[in-house]
Amino acid sequence: MTALDILIMAAGKGTRMKSRVPKVLQRLAGRPLLHHVLDQAAHLNARSAIVITGHGATEVEAATPIPASAGAGFDLKFVRQEPQLGTGHAVQQAVPHLRDDGTVVVLSGDVPLTRPDTLRALVDASGGGRLALLTVTLPDPTGYGRILRGADGAVQGIVEHKDATEAQRAIAEVYSGIMAVPARLLRGWLARLTNDNAQGEYYLTDIVAMAVADGVPVAAHCIQDAVQVAGVNSPAQLAELERACQLRQAQALMEQGVRLADPARFDLRGELVCAQDVEIDVGCIFTGRVALGEGVRIGAYCCISNATIAAGAVIHPFTHIDGEKLGASVGEGALIGPFARLRPGAQLGREVHIGNFVEVKNSTLADGAKANHLAYLGDATVGERVNYGAGSITANYDGANKHRTVIEADVHVGSNCVLVAPVTIGAGATVGGGSTITKNVEPGALGVARGRQVSIGNWKRPSKT
Ligand code: UD1
Ligand code: CA
Repeated sequence: MTALDILIMAAGKGTRMKSRVPKVLQRLAGRPLLHHVLDQAAHLNARSAIVITGHGATEVEAATPIPASAGAGFDLKFVRQEPQLGTGHAVQQAVPHLRDDGTVVVLSGDVPLTRPDTLRALVDASGGGRLALLTVTLPDPTGYGRILRGADGAVQGIVEHKDATEAQRAIAEVYSGIMAVPARLLRGWLARLTNDNAQGEYYLTDIVAMAVADGVPVAAHCIQDAVQVAGVNSPAQLAELERACQLRQAQALMEQGVRLADPARFDLRGELVCAQDVEIDVGCIFTGRVALGEGVRIGAYCCISNATIAAGAVIHPFTHIDGEKLGASVGEGALIGPFARLRPGAQLGREVHIGNFVEVKNSTLADGAKANHLAYLGDATVGERVNYGAGSITANYDGANKHRTVIEADVHVGSNCVLVAPVTIGAGATVGGGSTITKNVEPGALGVARGRQVSIGNWKRPSKT
């Protein structure tokens, strides 16, 4: 096995995206296209990866974390290509950084869904001494480089669409843009490239005819699955690949036993770890790191980010959970939603109930606590079995600082209360509905803070004058 060096071409402009963001930083399943391509280097156990940058180079380089990929075990380098004179010219920029003993795998920064097995087969086809091309047969090959084969079927060269004759344009087998080639051979061929063609560019594809002329065998590894070599040039293509990528992820989860109501209506933009018997209804979006325990059920149209949901919990439809950096956790058997919102630092114990239009932020709710309707709990510590009434809020912010509210076990907070923090409601206490509580309530006491009800008999309402 020769060592592998990955070369990723990412200098192109991506004009058709009509975006300020460099094309290879457009997101697929929540991550930049380039990061998906860099995953290939990790899957192949490559020795190094060189990213050729040009348009938006500083942004691309800044958005590509070297430490993470170093963890994946390869050395990552950026090489600038200024100006961009074609794919052959792009690869020429990397040549000084390539070691002669390796095999180079050329990838494009905008082709994110190539399967690692396909690339391994391509590397095998190169075998340390051959030029191996990944090719695909397309119903409409317009725009692509066509694979020219001799009478014996051997590959003779690649002709770019713009340089091709009518007869050549009828060829359905196209070059994917991906090749594996021994570095020492590549180096020699690149030195001989010219830009004498329809686009005035240095074509990497011209090395194929050079290999044939030099008597170096050219292998074509032909696949049928166009998604694996599909590039992103426009928002429409990006959306198409997003669906393809999501379907792959959905299938992988279903293979593990996760029940998705509809794999076509499922979006994962991060990492989802599921225990047994998890059920996910349609239209849910998972972002960041999410872990779902055994038997968890997620209702329709939930957005869940950076959260851990323990076994048996049920998240009813239209619930929004985003733990951001602090994380959010839901305990075993808890019932959340519909229309609930859990924010960073929401830590809910077992059997907690959070109902519609309840917001929880940076608060701990112990086992069995309930806030079922229209409420806010921010910077609060809530004890076991507390019942937090409809319309009640913690006033945690005085305009300058945040303060905590402590609600001890078995407290009953009536409806429409304001708990002005810092404040403590002692264990077993009751807060009368409509109270604005600014002082601590003793354990077991009734705290009530509102105008007393008066009754004025025979009340005359004003009449029109
Ligand atoms: C290229 C191939 C074509 C193949 C097609 C597959 C050549 C000459 N042609 O054509 O045979 O069918 O890919 O998609 O290679 N890039 C640079 N610097 C440059 C030019 C391009 O980094 O100077 C990068 C682009 O950002 C892109 C990749 O190289 O990631 C491919 O370039 P693109 O212009 O899309 O190549 P095609 O003309 O489509
Ligand atoms: Ca081009």
